[in-house]
Amino acid sequence: MDLRDEHLDAVIALVRQHTGIAMNENKRVLLQGRLLPRMRALGLASYDDYIAHLRRGGPEVGPFIDSVTTNDSAFFRTPAVWWYLNDEFLADWHAGHGGAPLRIWSAAAATGEEAYSMAMLCLEFQRQHPDFRFTISATDISSQALDAARGATYRGRTVERFALTRPALFRRYLAGGPERWTVAPEVRAHVAFATHNLLAPPPRREHFDLVLLRNVLIYFDEQNQERILAQVRTAMRPGARLVLGEQESITRIRTPFEFEQAHVYRIAGEPQ
Ligand SMILES: C[S@@+](CC[C@H](N)C(=O)[O-])C[C@H]1O[C@@H](n2cnc3c(N)ncnc32)[C@H](O)[C@@H]1O
Repeated sequence: MDLRDEHLDAVIALVRQHTGIAMNENKRVLLQGRLLPRMRALGLASYDDYIAHLRRGGPEVGPFIDSVTTNDSAFFRTPAVWWYLNDEFLADWHAGHGGAPLRIWSAAAATGEEAYSMAMLCLEFQRQHPDFRFTISATDISSQALDAARGATYRGRTVERFALTRPALFRRYLAGGPERWTVAPEVRAHVAFATHNLLAPPPRREHFDLVLLRNVLIYFDEQNQERILAQVRTAMRPGARLVLGEQESITRIRTPFEFEQAHVYRIAGEPQ
């Protein structure tokens, strides 16, 4: 069933209202493919009925958000970032903070691979530095993605790539196979998942030393990117670092951050 212009406009407005994500008519086919299964599940025969249903609010808002968000992720996505975190960030932070716990936020955590990759990196660092402690908060707007993240069971390309590129870590921290692999309880124990909309104030007034905000800003227009970055800033401790995705640059917009190196930003005006 074709998503005609008047319905497309209404759906794009609902996407923006509930997630802040900016979409345009290029997303017509994608939205059509994602919304039809929801309409079938609810027994609704037309986009008019589905839009009216959504406008009434209620329990369909969650599945709608799940359907319109793109939750793809991977273990150790963008290797250069993980070399930076391992070789520079953890060592520098530990040298400067003694026994204090490192607080990490995986914002837009999707299905959890990023948060678990970070936990594995920290556990490896802890093997060399037994006094090192850390916590990881992982949030996303999609409850369905977070359910998968909490389940911590993976299959397909994400685990195949992980096994190939970091075999020692894979053997140590994933169990199962040959098709389904589960992240070890030791890793999972360090990650707390929660629902959070990046446009809202950060969760529970927590403050973080490292924020991973990767491959999510691309979904927003500049106005909402600025809003999100201003919110994220309020959740960062002095000296904290912000890590963005490979295709994301924020140097053209107004933010409280300064470029440090590829993918990495520090709070503007702080001593280097
Ligand atoms: C492509 S994934 C990125 C996953 C991971 N950070 C990575 O780089 O592999 C983008 C995630 O952003 C989430 N997202 C989209 N809009 C959001 C919002 N307003 N608040 C929080 N999360 C949002 C989506 O649900 C999705 O899981």
